[in-house]
Amino acid sequence: MAFIADTVTLARVSADLFSMTLGKANIREGNVDAALAIGEWPRDLDLLVVDLANAADPIADAAALKTAVPGGCLVIGVGRINDVALYRELLAVGFNDYLAVPFAEGAVGRAVERALELRQRGGGAVAPGQSPLKDAAPRTLSVIGARGGVGATTAAVTIAAMLGVRLKEEVLLIDFDLHYGSLMLALDLEAIDALREALDQPDRIDALFIQQVAQKKSEFLYAMGAEEAPTNGFQARPHAAGDFLKSIHRRFRWVVADVPRGDPVIQRQAIEASTDILLVTDLSLPGVRDTMRLQQLVHDVAPGARLYIATGGAIDARRSAVKVSDVERALKRKVDCQIPADSAAALSAVNVGKPLSEAAPASGIVKALRSLVAGLDSPGGENGAAKPGKAASLLERFGRSLKKK
Ligand SMILES: Nc1ncnc2c1ncn2[C@@H]1O[C@H](COP(=O)(O)OP(=O)(O)O)[C@@H](O)[C@H]1O
Ligand SMILES: [Mg+2]
Repeated sequence: MAFIADTVTLARVSADLFSMTLGKANIREGNVDAALAIGEWPRDLDLLVVDLANAADPIADAAALKTAVPGGCLVIGVGRINDVALYRELLAVGFNDYLAVPFAEGAVGRAVERALELRQRGGGAVAPGQSPLKDAAPRTLSVIGARGGVGATTAAVTIAAMLGVRLKEEVLLIDFDLHYGSLMLALDLEAIDALREALDQPDRIDALFIQQVAQKKSEFLYAMGAEEAPTNGFQARPHAAGDFLKSIHRRFRWVVADVPRGDPVIQRQAIEASTDILLVTDLSLPGVRDTMRLQQLVHDVAPGARLYIATGGAIDARRSAVKVSDVERALKRKVDCQIPADSAAALSAVNVGKPLSEAAPASGIVKALRSLVAGLDSPGGENGAAKPGKAASLLERFGRSLKKK
């Protein structure tokens, strides 16, 4: 339903809503006063677009209207005032969005889509006092080991656990190695075959599915992983990982993915769909070579993602032929995190089937990951606070855009 005062905007909103609702939209001439005059609203009303033009007190009117319409109804305001303060106040009284006229074709449709997506994620408009982070954009961190056994899975589990506790927000770990993954074993959780089906048919993932497949490890940590038979040659169809993650993000804002090195298809898809990527290397020549190759892959398929480099501790750095400075020289960038060797802590985590941050919170491994985790949750995602690695990629993008001119 929509109430619009001027004819030009009315035509535009009608066109947008008409295509979206297959002609079922009810568009009336008038502003918020006309809307407030409605005595009884249809109980299944799910969308209201309302013109705040000519309202004496748009915020008070908006608040009154919001309490009058059914609770689940999305409300989008339009008006002639283009002012951030007004926009914020409208969100504070429960409006889902506000568009200042004149707006482009399709703007209302996009606003509705955005509002729906937020609602599906359980967010809705930012309520006063609520952490805006909870409504921030979905994030996927892919953790990839340059070689086998460098400590990538250990890092993924520990980072996810620390991030959840830090944000007080449920974080989901996904093992994308459907055949030989070790994540569920590390957490003493059951592997589930449904993960493969979900990758095959991501459009069938709903809240119930996620509830059944994501296993709870602790207050803020969930995990899912499979143990497909080695003979079962699973080939992910194009964009499977990306589509899958999109569905998962309706329930979990933060996903940490343990990405296999041995499956180039899934690996590429996961990188493509990630906002953040952590490459873990050991201090060996093959490790550095493969980190360089992965770094190139990340630059090619996910140029906008934040890239972090860590050196793993599964092999003691003191016994390695390659030094951290050699790695930095080869990669032409800083290493963000040096994970120390601590076999006692790693062993005890495996023994109790818990993240290292719980099994051995005093370990140097946890300490080393702390600043990486803090950098991850800097607000604003893409435009987040300065952090290691970030400056370089911003500059690079800046450089690229200069080159284009
Ligand atoms: N920082 C570390 N210090 C000592 N041992 C570690 C460390 N990180 C991992 N390990 C151990 O090394 C082995 C491989 O670790 P894992 O995380 O499975 O590596 P990947 O996923 O890269 O193959 C495991 O036994 C693990 O407990
Ligand atoms: Mg692993």
